[in-house]
Amino acid sequence: MTNKMWGGRFASGPAAIMEEINASIDFDKRLSAQDIAGSRAHCEMLARTGIIDREDASVILKGLDTIASEIEAGNFEYSRALEDIHMNIEARLAALAGPVAGKLHTARSRNDQVATDFKLYIREALLHLEGLLHDLQRELAQKALLHAATVMPGFTHLQSAQPVTFGHHCLAYVEMFARDRSRFADARKRADECPLGAAALAGTSFPIDREQTAKALGFSGPAANSLDAVSDRDFVLEALSGASITAVHLSRLAEEIVVWSSPGFGLVKLSDAFTTGSSIMPQKRNPDAAELVRAKTGAVFGAFTQLLIVMKGLPLAYSKDMQEDKVPAFTALDTLSLMLAAMSGMVGDLEPDKEAMAKAAGEGYSTATDLADWLVRNLDMPFREAHGVTGKIVALAESSAIALENVPLGDMQKIESGITDDVFSVLSVEDSVKSRTSFGGTAPSNVRKMAQKWIKRLESDPTSG
Ligand code: ARG
Repeated sequence: MTNKMWGGRFASGPAAIMEEINASIDFDKRLSAQDIAGSRAHCEMLARTGIIDREDASVILKGLDTIASEIEAGNFEYSRALEDIHMNIEARLAALAGPVAGKLHTARSRNDQVATDFKLYIREALLHLEGLLHDLQRELAQKALLHAATVMPGFTHLQSAQPVTFGHHCLAYVEMFARDRSRFADARKRADECPLGAAALAGTSFPIDREQTAKALGFSGPAANSLDAVSDRDFVLEALSGASITAVHLSRLAEEIVVWSSPGFGLVKLSDAFTTGSSIMPQKRNPDAAELVRAKTGAVFGAFTQLLIVMKGLPLAYSKDMQEDKVPAFTALDTLSLMLAAMSGMVGDLEPDKEAMAKAAGEGYSTATDLADWLVRNLDMPFREAHGVTGKIVALAESSAIALENVPLGDMQKIESGITDDVFSVLSVEDSVKSRTSFGGTAPSNVRKMAQKWIKRLESDPTSG
């Protein structure tokens, strides 16, 4: 059987394998709601401009309503022979409304139709992701407030460097996820031009009103160039590039959760809700959710790369290659949604081991910089010289295997005679973090203020999901 929609010139139906490679209905049926919305807007416009009769438009709109409820109820029969969502819906419309259904495709092509449907879908998906990011930020900001003064080791090269607070570390991620949200919101701003009415590639000879359809679908206006309108998939690429950066952030946090919860570090605990046991080693509590978030990053990057490769080198305007934009986009955005939701759950579940954190924070002479700063401040020593003096005191402490604050004053004075008893007021980890009051620094007073600011901001944020 030839395809009813474009089969006029074709003597026979496609080879089975052709149908297999060509049909997109298995995945683009996800665009049914957007396709119906686009058809409604187009039909209203055709009637308003007098391109089709009002009565015909009413029949078409009624048919579209029926199709929408059939799909909603799950009794719409999708057919592979009809290739894609656009032709499945159009064929059903013809069955319901008769030949008048054929008028809907006046001044329209599947090329502008699919670009419009997909743009609508991506805009909604971005909004959904922004909501999930918002939820995750709120979890992190609340943890930060709770642990504004909980000291932990701050790392460089994964080695204890200077003490920070756990709250400060949580807020670092709140900032990253804020940038991710703004990237998605920014992508939505550019995905605000409606392709509908570009028709196949060149526009149309019918007196259509593209402003009307654009507004009806929630776009700010029509895309200005018909060739660009049907060829453009930047909105998908931007969504996937933003998704990839978000996945990087999630993966870094996931990695930290894996490392921190490992017995070697023992800084945080995940409950049974976010861990699994081993079938052979009864003592194990594995951070599987974190590991899976870390690993799923691969699917997101893969999808982004895949679509970049599909699009590169495509001549204008539409080529069937572009049908291959959907699976990677759905995969990446679904995967990212799952990663975000799982991470929100884990952050809420995560409990820092305060004692272990404080102990680890003091290890490795992490307050050595505070000692050097004391020398600069109190003895007017150039920092480089203070660095050298501190190095000698650290070496001394190391040789006697004691903490910096336990080195006797007399021993310190042998290295630098100007050192007084006051030095001990900066050598504990608590004093160290308390002193870091510079803007953006880890002092508990700063962290408390920032966490409160974020919580308030997230509460009043209109795009909250
Ligand atoms: N299923 C197609 C896609 O997703 C719709 C557009 C088909 N256009 C065409 N000229 N064959 O890209």
